[in-house]
Amino acid sequence: MLFRSWQESVERSWPDVVVLPDHVGVDHLVVTRHALVRQVLADPGTFRPDNALDAMTPIPVAALRVLAGHGFRLPATLANNGGPSHPAIRGIVADALHPRRVAEQRPWLTAVVRERVGRLGAALDAGQPVDLYADLAADLPLLVLARLVDLPAAPAEVVKEFTRAALELFWAPVDPVRQRVLADVVGRFHAVLREFAGTGAGLVGQLRAAGHPPEVVVGALFFLLVAGQETTSQFLTLLLHRLTGAPEVLAGLGAGTVDVDDVVEEGLRLEPPIVTWRRVAARDTELAGTAVPEGTSVVLWLARAGRDPEVVAEPERFSPGQRGSRRHLAFGAGAHRCVGAQLSRMEAAVVVAETAPLLSDVTVLRAPWCPDNLSFRMPDAFVVARSGPSRSEQKILVSEQF
Ligand code: HEM
Repeated sequence: MLFRSWQESVERSWPDVVVLPDHVGVDHLVVTRHALVRQVLADPGTFRPDNALDAMTPIPVAALRVLAGHGFRLPATLANNGGPSHPAIRGIVADALHPRRVAEQRPWLTAVVRERVGRLGAALDAGQPVDLYADLAADLPLLVLARLVDLPAAPAEVVKEFTRAALELFWAPVDPVRQRVLADVVGRFHAVLREFAGTGAGLVGQLRAAGHPPEVVVGALFFLLVAGQETTSQFLTLLLHRLTGAPEVLAGLGAGTVDVDDVVEEGLRLEPPIVTWRRVAARDTELAGTAVPEGTSVVLWLARAGRDPEVVAEPERFSPGQRGSRRHLAFGAGAHRCVGAQLSRMEAAVVVAETAPLLSDVTVLRAPWCPDNLSFRMPDAFVVARSGPSRSEQKILVSEQF
């Protein structure tokens, strides 16, 4: 269950907290209820974020050597930083992602998405299948991030290869051969980031100017690249897929009776790209009557918290605007709550508004498939085709009638 938690039926009842061993025999305390997940997130003194980026599969010496060979280091900077430097680093990142700066990107993004959707619509009309992950969602968040934060000049495919390798290396069950391959991909790009962090402008320049040491600047950039675009492209793919199965929502969007922002929130509740997030117990404590010894890995089941009948009227229904819809914990909570929440919401709202008309007339040829992972969904593709006859076929049918 730990590595495919999104497949768990909501019908199955779970205890409020449950100890589950992982693939290497390490126990994790899984927290399943909304109120308890919030309680943990609100108490960083007892439940520290230090283990947020720890590898779920211990990295063997051979792969560690590969990482070391590239000069790879990952000090605590953002998500895994429970120390005193966190607020200052977070403050600089939050300024770069300020809602005003995010709003300024909206017209540009709308034009890009509209152009892409136009092209995809033409391909569908011509009877061709299209992949809404590869052809629409995969690189959009990276393009937006690059306009907000100076990034190394690397092709999008190279960045995506690196970020997906990082998600697999740190959060997936992997074998030693694969770990070496992933370590090489991650290590090589880390070296690129290191060089850029030493000279780049924008966010990295500000972190340097504030006196943060080079490895901290690299660490912040590393996490931002992973968290700041991979998550959103995963979310866009899953949300578009969800929408193809919700004709009444698509009709409501078209008629203006369903609000785009409500669709995005309900999507975050039902299809969060980060399904779980970790904390570690800083001292012996208890949770819901269960003893939690110091050092316990606590897995917060964010996706399940969004379906808690205590907070949402109809947990399994995709019903934008329903009571409790916005109370999901997809972005975490407290001192480490996602600083990119506003950005990803804006991106999703633009994509939903622009793509909805296209989705009402498609059939799914290949639903997104997600590999085993503790925290990230990582859909691989989402292929659709026109439901009825394509426009070119319609023309032939019409001309045959006359
Ligand atoms: C739908 C998209 C996204 C989801 C679901 C998401 C979710 C999360 C979650 C669950 C956390 C951990 C929160 C906690 O520990 O309480 C987090 C942290 C973070 N996210 Fe996001 N995220 C998304 C998009 C983004 C974007 C677009 C950016 C930036 C461009 C971003 C940057 C960050 C950063 C920097 C942190 C660490 C914050 C800190 O430790 O102070 N995220 N995100």
